[in-house]
Amino acid sequence: MAVTERFITRRELPANLELPPGPRLPAAIQTLVFMTHRTWIAPRWHRRYGDVFSVHLAPAGRAVVLTRPEHIREVFAGPASTFHAGEGNAILGPIMGEHSVLLLDEDAHLAARKRVMAAFRGEAMRGYSEVVERLAEDQVARWPVDRPFAVHPYLNEISLDVILRIVFGVTDETRLSEMRPLLRRLVRIGPLVFLGWLYPWLDAVGPWRRFRRLKDATDRVLYAEIADRRTVADLAGRTDVLSKLLVADPAQSDAELRDHLVTLLLAGHETTASTLAWTFHDLARRPDLLRHVQRAADEDDDAYLEAVVKESMRLRPVIGQVARRLATPVRIAGYDLPAGIVVFPSIALVQRRPSVFPSPEEFRPQRFLDGSPPPATWIPFGGGIRRCLGAALAMVEAQAVLKAVLRRVDIAPVGRPEWSKTRNITTVPGRGARIISRPR
Ligand code: HEM
Repeated sequence: MAVTERFITRRELPANLELPPGPRLPAAIQTLVFMTHRTWIAPRWHRRYGDVFSVHLAPAGRAVVLTRPEHIREVFAGPASTFHAGEGNAILGPIMGEHSVLLLDEDAHLAARKRVMAAFRGEAMRGYSEVVERLAEDQVARWPVDRPFAVHPYLNEISLDVILRIVFGVTDETRLSEMRPLLRRLVRIGPLVFLGWLYPWLDAVGPWRRFRRLKDATDRVLYAEIADRRTVADLAGRTDVLSKLLVADPAQSDAELRDHLVTLLLAGHETTASTLAWTFHDLARRPDLLRHVQRAADEDDDAYLEAVVKESMRLRPVIGQVARRLATPVRIAGYDLPAGIVVFPSIALVQRRPSVFPSPEEFRPQRFLDGSPPPATWIPFGGGIRRCLGAALAMVEAQAVLKAVLRRVDIAPVGRPEWSKTRNITTVPGRGARIISRPR
């Protein structure tokens, strides 16, 4: 395999290569600290080594972290033939499938992306808001009253149902109850199972065998849904993503459609639920702001609700950085970087630059009402030709859930602010965002 097709090892780096400064700890320790305490260590490295620093993380190898908007813009605007994002996700291949937009690069990526993006467009997005509000209303009616509970699992349930109805377009109750438990387990697949995929003989034992069975069972029900959908009479009138993919190109294979569905589930479920969990965690601790948001919910002040969601995504980005592996050498931030190196535009660090966001630690939705931040400074959805395909849906969903919930209940915090924990790739509240909720 050529160097340009995988991550570069330390020994393959040119001897005279000058990389930005960075921690000198062994790669295993850097990786461990980064995996477990990302929100704590990244700002420390930033302060110590400056706006451009290098880290050594498994499995990416040598990586350069970028925190200045002008450098991040260079990456987002750079050629797809240089900045590969798909290869870095190869480890997700066994679950997402070979057609997944997240795993592809260059022409194949653009073709898949165009197809999925088209299915997300259109009038339908506005109607989605009502669907989400209804799902959230049903949910909040089941929240514990007047006693502490972790709200994150409840938000996961809403976000799973949003995917099932809006993306998969499943309406049949029997099929919904068949799918829910399988998909709940699928989204919980952890790093241990991912790493096992590198050693195919593990397939027959323990968690890897359980994963294989789960995947087979999930695929069976997804393929059944796709087959049924191909035959419905009102396909053209349906607004869910699967139906729109089918209308756009009925010749698409079932395998391709299945890979799109699983990708959208895994990319869209936990990210949105975790964003909402942080929003409730933080609002519960700011009664002044909470009252303002409740008023906005009562009065359908969507502009304010949008500003709240944007500020939450700025302060608590659930994905801390995006990755691009260099397929060709490139000069960036004053460094000549060889192919094989990974660059990390840091979402978490650029969104806390005091020059752009004064008092960056403060939750201040007003920032987003006073104007738009400069390019490449608010990037929770990444950027360029890899920007999140579900960004519009995520914004609609988060606002609709906030509105439906805060119209009905008051929330109060439980205990001290929660530390951040990394779950798979997302940063989540360490104790599940514990709150107390009571009817207003
Ligand atoms: C708050 C919620 C969400 C956040 C913070 C988020 C964040 C991101 C980020 C950071 C990326 C990588 C972008 C890059 O590499 O530049 C991404 C990619 C992606 N997201 Fe999201 N996402 C969210 C919700 C969703 C939803 C709801 C869906 C779909 C149902 C979705 C589907 C995707 C897909 C398909 C990609 C791959 C795009 C590509 O490679 O071309 N995301 N998202």
